[in-house]
Amino acid sequence: MTEVQVATPGGSYAIKVGAGLLPSLGAELKALRPRVTQILIISDETVAALHGSAALGALGNAGLSASLVTVPTGEGSKSLAQLGALWERCAEAGLDRASCIVALGGGVVGDLAGFVAATYMRGIAFVQVPTTLLAVVDSSVGGKTGIDLPQGKNLVGSFHQPILVLADVDLLATLPEREISAGLAEVVKHGIIRDPGLLDWLEQNAEAILALEKGRLSELLAWNCRIKASVVGQDERESGLRAILNFGHTIGHALEAVVGGHVAADGWVHGECVAVGTVGALVLSQAVGALQEPALIGRTEALLRRFRLPVRLPDGFESKAILPYLARDKKATGGRPTWVLAERAGSSLLTADVTEAQVLTALAYLEA
Ligand code: NAD
Ligand code: GLY
Repeated sequence: MTEVQVATPGGSYAIKVGAGLLPSLGAELKALRPRVTQILIISDETVAALHGSAALGALGNAGLSASLVTVPTGEGSKSLAQLGALWERCAEAGLDRASCIVALGGGVVGDLAGFVAATYMRGIAFVQVPTTLLAVVDSSVGGKTGIDLPQGKNLVGSFHQPILVLADVDLLATLPEREISAGLAEVVKHGIIRDPGLLDWLEQNAEAILALEKGRLSELLAWNCRIKASVVGQDERESGLRAILNFGHTIGHALEAVVGGHVAADGWVHGECVAVGTVGALVLSQAVGALQEPALIGRTEALLRRFRLPVRLPDGFESKAILPYLARDKKATGGRPTWVLAERAGSSLLTADVTEAQVLTALAYLEA
């Protein structure tokens, strides 16, 4: 087991990464909150069917009183309707200020359950038990919680840090291949913005990771948690540095708004949109004159392809269709997005100083 510490003004906690960790959930929770009363596990229907009993067992075996509530699987559950239902469920289950919520699932469950914990009784403790690769390396760390509105993703939320992240790699064994790949898009992003050594390592270990080889997978997950912890430790509330985690997401989110799985049943998942957005951000970095290492574009594309991720827009998709969505990006001010650009492997910068012509150059590349 590897432990990574997160230290932010809003809370300090451990991320524990390794195999066979879920059975220790109850003991971990008791050690952190000896007087904990009720525990409510929030999960989605898919994850609850696979891992719900094990999580309940882990709490019950430690003598803790726990119940499980599920929401439908998918982004649609990050909604006001589900939030309201969960608040009521907390009250019905008798949760008080000494209670704790456990988010058992991917980023959808983590964001939603975290926001329930942030708001119920003005905030109670919660634990993240991430079950997707994306959730381990990204969404379970850093305390961003929230829901979507019909007008856009993640428009309502708060910063609320968990008291513990328990990342059991065994839980990833049931994850569909496509979701493993989707999480790896965020891993590649971490290498580009912060750590050239991570890109080298990924090139050497791609097949072991795709095969979910536990030792190397645990090493990779802990490494990425360290990267994310170091960024949010310096800028919890995204007043500057944290925005670099948005690399690839400006185009990625815009693409997701058009072809995302919560929009179209056969749509692309978040990580796939981010993969294309990552290539777009690199080409834009070159068009703007920021990229000092042009070979990084081909190198990244090759790595993303090895991870079974797309590096171009869907067939027949006209790139201009996503232009209006770029201006709606949450990081846009006055309709101008703040772009995260790469200088070289491991080094990125933030700028709004990008022309529409340069953006069109990058988008045209993605159509090729
Ligand atoms: P998700 O939670 O929808 O999970 C993806 C799919 O995998 C779902 O169908 C789920 O049921 C299934 N699944 C989860 N764990 C499984 C397992 N162990 N075995 C089998 N199936 C499993 O999606 P995600 O990609 O984990 O997260 C995406 C969400 O995360 C988005 O809402 C995004 O906005 C959010 N996010 C938040 C942050 C943050 O900092 N808070 C960062 C990145 C993404
Ligand atoms: N996933 C982006 C962030 O946590 O800031």
